[in-house]
Amino acid sequence: MTDGRITTAKLGDDGPEVGVQGLGCMGMNFGYGPSDADASRATLERALELGVTLYDTADAYGAGENERFLSPFFKAHRDELVIATKFALSIPPDDPTRRVIRNDPPYIRQAVEASLKRLDVDVIDLYYMHRRDVNVPIEESVGVMAELVREGKVKHLGLSEVTADELHAAHAVHPIAAVQSEWSLFSRDIETNVVPAARDLGVTLVAYSPLGRGFLTGSFATAEDLSSGDFRRQQPRFTGDNATANGALLKPIRTVAEAHGVSVGQIALAWAHQQSSLHGLPVIPIPGTRKPTRVEENTAATRIVLTEEELALLDPIAAKVAGDRYADMAFTSAGRE
Ligand SMILES: NC(=O)c1ccc[n+]([C@@H]2O[C@H](COP(=O)([O-])OP(=O)(O)OC[C@H]3O[C@@H](n4cnc5c(N)ncnc54)[C@H](OP(=O)(O)O)[C@@H]3O)[C@@H](O)[C@H]2O)c1
Repeated sequence: MTDGRITTAKLGDDGPEVGVQGLGCMGMNFGYGPSDADASRATLERALELGVTLYDTADAYGAGENERFLSPFFKAHRDELVIATKFALSIPPDDPTRRVIRNDPPYIRQAVEASLKRLDVDVIDLYYMHRRDVNVPIEESVGVMAELVREGKVKHLGLSEVTADELHAAHAVHPIAAVQSEWSLFSRDIETNVVPAARDLGVTLVAYSPLGRGFLTGSFATAEDLSSGDFRRQQPRFTGDNATANGALLKPIRTVAEAHGVSVGQIALAWAHQQSSLHGLPVIPIPGTRKPTRVEENTAATRIVLTEEELALLDPIAAKVAGDRYADMAFTSAGRE
């Protein structure tokens, strides 16, 4: 279970082959409470040994600290991996606790230079717009992103949490390799419009928070189980009555996990991977972890195949989830579709 390398999938029509599961690096020093830097570094190395080649970060994770932390690992293995980072969540100089969405061309140019510097690399393999600034036409923003490709600063373009219409408009300006959106047993709103649009356009779906931010592993039951600096304490799904109701939804996942002799988290990931054949497009889940044993467990989930009966048992879960996936859904594709 712990030594097999994972298979690969393509990142867009023109992009590279990457491991079919990526690694979310956000929690390594941002958002999810205290971290052990040595364990995170060991996690990165173990992931690479197991065939994980797509590493996900963003300039907003720890105001650049996440990119800085990852830089030595990226540089040591530059030719073996694909670096994905993002722009758009800017920090106003007068209030470092706030984030303002910016997609305007001068901001994008400034953001890419800052990310290249922090990462200390010549080129970013996959550069995402993290969130849509609805005050700037997407064609204008993607136009500048396309210039970055022509200038050799960026290889491929991605969009995060966009609607199907936004994806179509962007793709008409420049091919989009990947859309990154939340997709899990608990969050399936993108299946209505975004997933079919991605399939039609040859865009890969990168599924973030495939473990429901950890809730689908059963490792915490409510926001109160999390440390004081953990931003999940504010998330509607993990507080009060919602947490209790959502905890009960893990029961069918446990039933399937017991049948396979695996963990509930592995069933959540197997479900996410299986969406690729069900929807007919490449799907690359990017579970986040800071522990080498968990990256072994998570990559092993790529080899689990769920039966039609098991999929049917898991199917009703998402519609019963209590609480939005964000406090402000306007920042997501579901909030605009
Ligand atoms: N585009 C966007 O707007 C956006 C938004 C959110 C996240 N992301 C990206 O997506 C990545 C993944 O999302 P996420 O981290 O929010 O959620 P996730 O992958 O659904 O869950 C991560 C949580 O699950 C825990 N975990 C992982 N594997 C586990 C296992 N085998 N057993 C028990 N617990 C396990 C992790 O704890 P440990 O770390 O302690 O193992 C962490 O607390 C992020 O790192 C980030 O790169 C993007």
